[in-house]
Amino acid sequence: SLIANGGKRPHLAAILVGSDGASETYINAKVKACEMVGFGSTLVRFDSTVSQSDLLSEIKRINNNLDVDGLIVQLPLPSHIDELEVTQAINPKKDVDGFHPENIGRMVLNLPAYLPATPSGILELLQRYNVETSGKHCVVVGRSHIVGSPISILMASNNNPGNCTVTLTHSRTQNLKEITKTADILIVALGKAEFVTSEMVKDGACIIDVGITRAKSDITKTGWKLLGDVAFDEVNHKCSFITPVPGGVGPMTIAMLLKNTLKSAKRAVY
Ligand code: GUN
Repeated sequence: SLIANGGKRPHLAAILVGSDGASETYINAKVKACEMVGFGSTLVRFDSTVSQSDLLSEIKRINNNLDVDGLIVQLPLPSHIDELEVTQAINPKKDVDGFHPENIGRMVLNLPAYLPATPSGILELLQRYNVETSGKHCVVVGRSHIVGSPISILMASNNNPGNCTVTLTHSRTQNLKEITKTADILIVALGKAEFVTSEMVKDGACIIDVGITRAKSDITKTGWKLLGDVAFDEVNHKCSFITPVPGGVGPMTIAMLLKNTLKSAKRAVY
């Protein structure tokens, strides 16, 4: 309807460096999602040996392309590439992944910002399923820049969803189980298959599983299956809500990336 009303077709550009299997899957899903909703998309591929300066030049070129509303660089990048410099090279107004320091700063200050897609998808799930967050204890497991760190800030922020008392736990946390057991909302994003077991969970908790690990399987046709960070089959009956893997947070991440791209096309963020 945006286009029917004479608006601009939103356009997402994505850069993929190398051919990591998981990154290929994610990038393909993002491009396919653009097609499904009628967005334009451009996928720029680089060999894993690409130089920092060639990568930065391409980012500059896309920054200056007025047809492109959103630009993402799929992470992780090869070790010889400076990820922070790459992130900072993206025009913050096209930074629909919300990884640029300017957007992270704006998020922390509760200013209009592009929120990173996975945390944003978690907020959308909590809102749409009417999960009360205000005054609740939210425990986050994992402190990554992409999920754990931003979601802990957002859950503590003066918003709805938000207004939680947040505990951010990580690999150096002591007595993790004692902490997760007190969570009303437990957000798990550490990338270890079936790490959270039923004895780590309080009755009636709301569980958000961000993990996605490929494991070998004798049962599936492909020979592998996807596992979350939560042992779903044993935790399932204890909680009020739990997101499945696959099918929970993953599709929300893609939906929120599209939402950010749409907002950029409409100049609706800042
Ligand atoms: N790698 C893992 N998650 C993400 C994401 O949300 N965006 C990008 N660009 N790379 C990722």
